[in-house]
Amino acid sequence: MAEPDSRRIVIFDTTLRDGEQSPGASMNLAEKMEVAQALVELGVDVIEAGFPIASKGDFEAVREIARMVRGPVVCGLARCRPEDIDRAWEAVKHAERPRIHVFLATSAIHREFKLHMDKEEIIRRAVAGVERAVGYCPDVEFSPEDAARTEIDFLCEVVEKAIDAGATTVNIPDTVGYATPAQMGGLIRKLRGRVPNIERAVISVHCHNDLGMAVANSLAAVEAGAGQVECTINGIGERAGNCSLEEIVMALRTRHDVYHAHTGVVTQRLVPTSRLVASITGMQVQRNKAIVGQNAFAHEAGIHQDGILKEPTTYEIMRPEDVGFMRSDLVLGKHSGRAALADRARALGYRLTGEQLNTVFEAFKALADKKKEIYDADLAALVEEQIRAVTELWSLDSYEVTSGTGRKPHVSLTLRHGDQVLTTQKSAGDGPIDAVFLAIAELTGIHVVCKDFRVHSVTVGQDAQGEVTVQVEHDGRLYRGRGVSTDSVEASAKAFLNAINRIVTATNGAAQPAGETSA
Ligand code: KIV
Ligand code: ZN
Repeated sequence: MAEPDSRRIVIFDTTLRDGEQSPGASMNLAEKMEVAQALVELGVDVIEAGFPIASKGDFEAVREIARMVRGPVVCGLARCRPEDIDRAWEAVKHAERPRIHVFLATSAIHREFKLHMDKEEIIRRAVAGVERAVGYCPDVEFSPEDAARTEIDFLCEVVEKAIDAGATTVNIPDTVGYATPAQMGGLIRKLRGRVPNIERAVISVHCHNDLGMAVANSLAAVEAGAGQVECTINGIGERAGNCSLEEIVMALRTRHDVYHAHTGVVTQRLVPTSRLVASITGMQVQRNKAIVGQNAFAHEAGIHQDGILKEPTTYEIMRPEDVGFMRSDLVLGKHSGRAALADRARALGYRLTGEQLNTVFEAFKALADKKKEIYDADLAALVEEQIRAVTELWSLDSYEVTSGTGRKPHVSLTLRHGDQVLTTQKSAGDGPIDAVFLAIAELTGIHVVCKDFRVHSVTVGQDAQGEVTVQVEHDGRLYRGRGVSTDSVEASAKAFLNAINRIVTATNGAAQPAGETSA
């Protein structure tokens, strides 16, 4: 229970907007809906679902999320332009609690070089933008972009005029991640002291992480009186990212004695949500990442382990179960039944029912034949792969590859595409994985340039599953793919096919299959 003097901080999640803007992190509609649902369960207050004018896909995603979400506010971003604001409203108007977020840069650098506008023009447009948004809905947020580098007198004036025009939240972005905690705290204090109508709006902060200070800057702003923090799951976002949601939430909770503030976030959902976003975006969380990293609660030094066994608080300032890690990495195996599997999956944050449970159970049995012990991370990887496999248009049926020192690899590969089974055989490539990729490109007729290829082991041990993520370029756009298997060539083939499927979906099936049909 929050103490009586504790302030409630509004958690504004922008994973689906600023987070999705990070290179290679784009999500399709189904994935955005899945993340939005996870954010609801996490208990965030506001979901910024996208930038509706940016593309048809963005518009549809915001509209569908607005229709689906119950509980949190659903927000759409717009520049201070009539067409942007109208489009944002079209997208969010179905929401139970809609918000329009308008922004316009205010710093001298942006005014002079980007916008070619003087201060009067900026104020005129900001006010007109807020008024137009208020004409549609009462919940309007205004952001003076690059506020942290804006002259303080001018910033105070813009903020005051935006509130007079009807903005109910004024967001102070450190757009380029340049501020320091003392500056950010000072800025919020100055706004509170100098803007006469400031009490009529919630002050928000939006800090980027270019100098690694996004969380520290956001905390300093909260200490100075900010009532809303904008953040993303795993801190993903433009360049070095945004303020990480899990870090700000746990810092507020763990150091309540300092901040006297709390959030509505269900902290036990932090790890499952982090895993979901990492798996969907392909942006892996570094092992030592605070709160949700694989090592965040791992104690290696004997002296620490000894202390933990005697009394956990000797070396633990938070309990792993409070952020959604489980104390025991329960091991499932060959003899574990469907109920045990469903139970453990539920504890990890996945609700498997009906057909989905059957599919996952079949895959689990197949994995248990290859791997003696199945850990939580194995199960999470397997569930995510199976859940997403439903939308796979092309899938791997089988492959065989021979390769060796000084020999061209030889591959024989069979894919499924709807009812079709397509096979090819070829000697090509620099190694077995390259050969498989070339064979897939030949059969699907989709040619790409591989930009990034990573393998990491899901758990430990010789029989651990390998998770492969690829990034490929097709027609000037980047697509991601992910695959998991105990066989790293098979995981690579699955990841490559996953990327191909994203291309086919994005181009509405424009690419036609080509190759030899064997059945
Ligand atoms: O970083 C930024 O300034 C933004 C605004 C649109 C709020 O993302
Ligand atoms: Zn931003």
